[in-house]
Amino acid sequence: MLNHDRAGMPADFFRAWNQGLHPDLYEIENRALDREEYVWAALSRLAPWAGRIILDLGCGTGFWLPRYAEQAASVIGVEPDPELLAAARARAGGASVLHGSAEHIPLPDSSVDVVHARFAYFFPSPQHDCSAGLAEVLRVLRPGGSLVVIDNDQDDGEFADLLEAANAAAGQGEGDYIASWWAEHGASTTRVMSSWTFDRPEELADVVRMEFPNGTADAWLEADPQRSRLSYGYALHHLRKG
Ligand SMILES: C[S@@+](CC[C@H](N)C(=O)[O-])C[C@H]1O[C@@H](n2cnc3c(N)ncnc32)[C@H](O)[C@@H]1O
Repeated sequence: MLNHDRAGMPADFFRAWNQGLHPDLYEIENRALDREEYVWAALSRLAPWAGRIILDLGCGTGFWLPRYAEQAASVIGVEPDPELLAAARARAGGASVLHGSAEHIPLPDSSVDVVHARFAYFFPSPQHDCSAGLAEVLRVLRPGGSLVVIDNDQDDGEFADLLEAANAAAGQGEGDYIASWWAEHGASTTRVMSSWTFDRPEELADVVRMEFPNGTADAWLEADPQRSRLSYGYALHHLRKG
C-alpha cells in the first residue's frame, strides 16, 4: 500500500518537474528520443520482453506502454502521480496501469520477468538513496528476471554538456557516484550514444528550455536556432535477479 500524507498524495512521490508539469512537451520529447533505435536495440539485448511480463515502473503518461505491448505477453505500468496515472490509463492499449511507486509496487513477489524504469525514481545521489526501490523491484522480479534503468550518460554527448552547464550533477549525483552505486548493487552499466531528433527546431528549443528552466541552455540554443537534433548519451544500468 502507498502511504499518504495529509494532502492525500503518496508520501514517497514527488512530481516530475518535466513530465508532471508539462505533459504535452514531454510527449514531444519522448517522440524525439532515440529515433535511431540504438537504445531499443540495447534494451532488447539486455532485458528482452517479447513473450514476457514487463513492468514499466514510473510509466508517467504511459507513452511507452503500447510499444512494449507489441511484443510482451503482458504489460503493467506503475505510476504514483494521479494525473499521469489517469493519462496512462487512457492510453494503455492493453496494459494494466496501477497506482504505486518504486518503493511500493502493488504486485506479488516473483510476478514479473522484466522491469524497465525510464528516467523514473532511480537517480542515486548522496541525498536520494534508491535502495528501498531496488529491494522492491527485486521482490517482484522472478528469479532470472532483469531490471534495466534508463538514465543519462553524464559524460558523453551534447545533452551531457547541457547537464554539466546546468550543474545538474550537483542535484543528481556525479556520474562516478551513480556508476559506483550501481556497481555496488551488482549492476552493469552500458552506455549508448543516440539522439533527440525533433521534427522542427522550435520543438527542440521548447523541450530543452523545459528541461533547463533556469536559462543555462539559452546560449547553446541561440548559437544555432535551426538545429533540430542533439546527440544524447544514455546509461543503461542492468541487474539480473539471481
Ligand atoms: C521524467 S518522468 C518519466 C516518465 C516515463 N517513464 C517516460 O519515460 O515517459 C518521471 C516519472 O517518475 C515518476 N515518479 C516520481 N516518483 C516516483 C517513485 N517514487 N516511484 C516511481 N516513479 C516515480 C513521476 O511521477 C514520473 O511519471
